Amino acid sequence: MNYKEVQDSETTYTELMIPSYANFGGKVHGGIILSLLDKVAYICASKHSHQYCVTVSVEGVEFKSPVEVGDLVEIKASVNYVGRTTMIVGMRVESFNPRDGIVRHTNSCYFTMAAKDEHGNLTEVPGLKLTTETQVRRFCEGKIIRKLSQEKREILKSDLALAEMKEQCAQERCSITI
Ligand SMILES: CC(C)(COP(=O)(O)OP(=O)(O)OC[C@H]1O[C@@H](n2cnc3c(N)ncnc32)[C@H](O)[C@@H]1OP(=O)(O)O)[C@@H](O)C(=O)NCCC(=O)NCCS
Repeated sequence: MNYKEVQDSETTYTELMIPSYANFGGKVHGGIILSLLDKVAYICASKHSHQYCVTVSVEGVEFKSPVEVGDLVEIKASVNYVGRTTMIVGMRVESFNPRDGIVRHTNSCYFTMAAKDEHGNLTEVPGLKLTTETQVRRFCEGKIIRKLSQEKREILKSDLALAEMKEQCAQERCSITI
């Protein structure tokens, strides 16, 4: 099998948060950050696979602090885990305020990207050559993320009877009228 080093596809991307990115509260729209993440995940995954890639799933997106207009947003990305045709790209987002010099960790998340050949078919990606303890840890975390997301999909697919669903909702803030 062909193996590639994590460093070969590591990506750092910086973008200035301009006024047109703002929401009604004057902060940057979450969707702008998501769109940047998707772009950076693509760059990183296509560097590793040398193929066009598509986004399959997104795990763990949460905004820990708002991003301000005028901030410089930096996204660091690496391929943390590879399956046969997919890669988990881990990304860390930091926003830097150039005036006060404060750096805030805004977000960390994982995008699963699939490699497709020129006919649009899934295609095998190179394995990962792990050369540091951090890379091994991230690979193991990626394996867990994949397993948990498969389990989550299975649970959500489960076909509960109405009575069971009503029982599950009993202590929740909803009023079921069927
Ligand atoms: C996601 C997709 C590739 C799965 O295709 P499939 O033929 O059903 O997939 P398979 O069950 O054979 O699995 C193929 C790979 O996808 C992974 N996969 C499938 N569904 C997944 C999910 N929901 N989350 C994470 N990984 C998933 C599998 O684990 C497998 O990975 P591996 O090859 O690395 O082991 C396919 O549905 C697809 O192309 N979706 C559209 C993606 C796209 O266009 N994105 C952009 C949207 S604008």
